[in-house]
Amino acid sequence: MSERVFLNGRFLPGEQALVSANDRGFHFADGVYEVVKYYPGGPFCLEEHMERLRNSLAAVRIVYPMGVETLPVIFSRLLEENGLSGREAGVYLQITRGSHPRVHHFPEIPEPTVYACAFAFPSFVRQLTEGIGVITAEDIRWLRCDIKSVSLLANTMLYQQAVERGAGECVLVRDGLVTEATHSTVMAVRHGTVVTHPLSRLILPGITRKVVLDLCRENGIPVAEEALPAEELHAADELFLTGTGSEVMPVVAVDGHPVGHGLPGPVTRLLQNAFFRKVDSPLKFDR
Ligand SMILES: Cc1ncc(COP(=O)(O)O)c(C=O)c1O
Repeated sequence: MSERVFLNGRFLPGEQALVSANDRGFHFADGVYEVVKYYPGGPFCLEEHMERLRNSLAAVRIVYPMGVETLPVIFSRLLEENGLSGREAGVYLQITRGSHPRVHHFPEIPEPTVYACAFAFPSFVRQLTEGIGVITAEDIRWLRCDIKSVSLLANTMLYQQAVERGAGECVLVRDGLVTEATHSTVMAVRHGTVVTHPLSRLILPGITRKVVLDLCRENGIPVAEEALPAEELHAADELFLTGTGSEVMPVVAVDGHPVGHGLPGPVTRLLQNAFFRKVDSPLKFDR
């Protein structure tokens, strides 16, 4: 079955979804995006994703006249048209300022460009079971990482370094402090407390971050929203990533050095199991 996508009000085959070369997204990466995961039981934190989208749109002053609340119906239809209903699937949505001859200021454009597609989520069971290794690198991104902008060149350059070194993610360090990773939130366990960067313009307000911090509180695990010095990464008892795709992903090595005993730790396992229960996933770890 050929992929069906949504573009500017129409559902059509992917290869027919054409965007103008004058699109502001093409010229300036002038747009924002979201990725929502659907589990067999339904979407995960859909309203929270839509709220973050509203915030991203407002931050870059893109107006979506149809209203963000109209999007979930489009997502459901995309899943249906692609045979993905009831499966673990993702929806990618991108809204750019629209098409206009290249000028640096925000021109008056009546309609933004709205594109969405659905995809089957890859299985990360092996990584969730065994954990992954990460590398660290300087956070070379801009100072508005709280906006979910399609401008991801720095993220892709940094993630490419991880791929080339056989690692699963690249953890970012700004001024000696861990911010987040290229497409996930970083959490460390230090003396039983889960430590993660506070919300600020230096990180994306991760939806999974909030869910996992709530799970910590529900399970009596202390939380410290403070930036972790990079040198403490190696000394952390446990390390894990959170994200729509990563869920709760154990990190067992940093720059080739084992974290703790080099195996997913007990706090990570507890949070993984709590998370899987929340999303009705059959996954469960004994240790
Ligand atoms: C830079 C960055 N940080 C964190 C996250 C995790 O956010 P969420 O939990 O909302 O998927 C992402 C997800 O794409 C991301 O790109």
